[in-house]
Amino acid sequence: MDRLTVTTRPIEGQKPGTSGLRKKTRVFMEPHYLENFVQSVWSAIGGVAGKTLVLGGDGRYFNDRAAQVILRMAAAGGAARVIVGQGALLSTPAASNLIRQRGADGGLIMSASHNPGGIDEDFGIKYNTANGGPAPAEVTDRIFAATRSIESYEILEAQDVDLGVVGESRLGDMVVEVVDPVADYAALMEGLFDFDAIRDLFARGFTLRFDAMHAVTGPYATAILEGTLGAAQGSVVNAVPSPDFGGGHPDPNPIWAKPLMDLMMGPDAPDFGAASDGDGDRNMIVGRGLYVTPSDSLAVLAANAHLAPGYARGLAGVARSMPTSGALDRVAAARGLDCYETPTGWKFFGNLLDAGRATLCGEESAGTGSDHVREKDGLWAVLLWLNILAASDKSVADLLTAHWAEFGRNYYSRHDYEGVDAAAAEALMQGLRDRLATLPGQAFAGLAVTAADEFAYDDPVDGSRAEGQGIRVWFEGGARVVFRLSGTGTVGATLRVYMEDLETDPARQGRDAQEALAGVIAAADAVAGIGQHTGRTAPDVMT
Ligand code: G6P
Ligand code: ZN
Repeated sequence: MDRLTVTTRPIEGQKPGTSGLRKKTRVFMEPHYLENFVQSVWSAIGGVAGKTLVLGGDGRYFNDRAAQVILRMAAAGGAARVIVGQGALLSTPAASNLIRQRGADGGLIMSASHNPGGIDEDFGIKYNTANGGPAPAEVTDRIFAATRSIESYEILEAQDVDLGVVGESRLGDMVVEVVDPVADYAALMEGLFDFDAIRDLFARGFTLRFDAMHAVTGPYATAILEGTLGAAQGSVVNAVPSPDFGGGHPDPNPIWAKPLMDLMMGPDAPDFGAASDGDGDRNMIVGRGLYVTPSDSLAVLAANAHLAPGYARGLAGVARSMPTSGALDRVAAARGLDCYETPTGWKFFGNLLDAGRATLCGEESAGTGSDHVREKDGLWAVLLWLNILAASDKSVADLLTAHWAEFGRNYYSRHDYEGVDAAAAEALMQGLRDRLATLPGQAFAGLAVTAADEFAYDDPVDGSRAEGQGIRVWFEGGARVVFRLSGTGTVGATLRVYMEDLETDPARQGRDAQEALAGVIAAADAVAGIGQHTGRTAPDVMT
């Protein structure tokens, strides 16, 4: 087997975002594109000689080819061992777990999360560090710098490794260890949750629909929910990962998981509905006739986590991203827990989890997780919900109603304006920024502003500061509106407007969120001039 040194040149635009490098699949398939980036990762981490890495992905188009290239480059770089999920599959949380459990030096996850897959869709690669979490900015900055000065990469000339069979083989001097992608993750879940109680729940006739959206959680959910816990066969649907996710958009929200929503709102709804995204880190929870917002889900999990054995000793603290509703804060205040407010992006939770300051965290963008791994974890959230339902013997609706009665209901909605002209979106944000000091006291659509600021975060663990993380406006009565430009949009700019208002009177907690928030929505439009700046009369997406 020859080790080749291939001459190359820097390729423009290989700057990793919050979730690694994401591009159109055809871009990744261009000559040297993948190789340049992988070699730059090796450079940024001081090479891979003697190291152990984890490798897997969500099964999207090009996942299998990319895995072979990465293995040959790891071997050429002198890596000691690469632990690969069978079929080159690993959900993002399972990869995070393997890195931690096996004491690996890091790992590469091949995924573009909830973005569609296929030769004309998206592909991505993300490097996670030894704590199992996404590489911090100093590492991704080094990767980017390396992509701009690369002159050559090294790769072994070799046959493909058979990734279909569990076991060890060699690629040059490197060991390739193919593992069952589910086994270690399932063992971790069994250690956290009362599987006997959940098994008993299903034995008593509890019904479930889990929509894996043709993505990576299919094998995990089938093995754990149907295999180990005894949910009826067929409870997990769209369970076979396909390279193009069945032509769908594997994003678990009421729009993209519409068939599940329709079922849950109809006469044949099972007791519990859930879905997860392409790489298995996001989740959606639905009760019979009732969608649970990610912000409410996080608050319910925080209030009841002690019912699961893994959290029986209580929580060290909790954390949420800034635009996520204050429902979590209400639980934290009642239970005497520290509650951290971080900028959008899972990476901001890493230090809090590593330092033992937070046990549970979550985001309005359908991510929930805990210190069991360093990624958000879709199936984990589903299992914690099931454990809580089993232990409390309540329906989702009863649990939520009781939660609101105890802590209040934070009515919440996010309005997205997609594909907005980038300059117009910037002008809207700058217009708000310029008026922050003068807004308090002024009324918009009949609501007076009490305070306004631009969110900045000082990390209490490493002292780093993140500025410009969204504009917040509070109104009389406590309602809050947040304006933020998406960091993940691909076409033009996406303006996100997050609205919330607290209702403590149980008699008024059963309303439709859009209706309950109508006054706040009108005030948001008036204060920012959304219509004037964007030319839009209504959002593209309301969740
Ligand atoms: C990714 C990150 C999440 C984050 C989300 C925000 O999914 O993993 O942690 O909440 O992006 O996306 P946005 O489009 O609002 O910037
Ligand atoms: Zn994801």
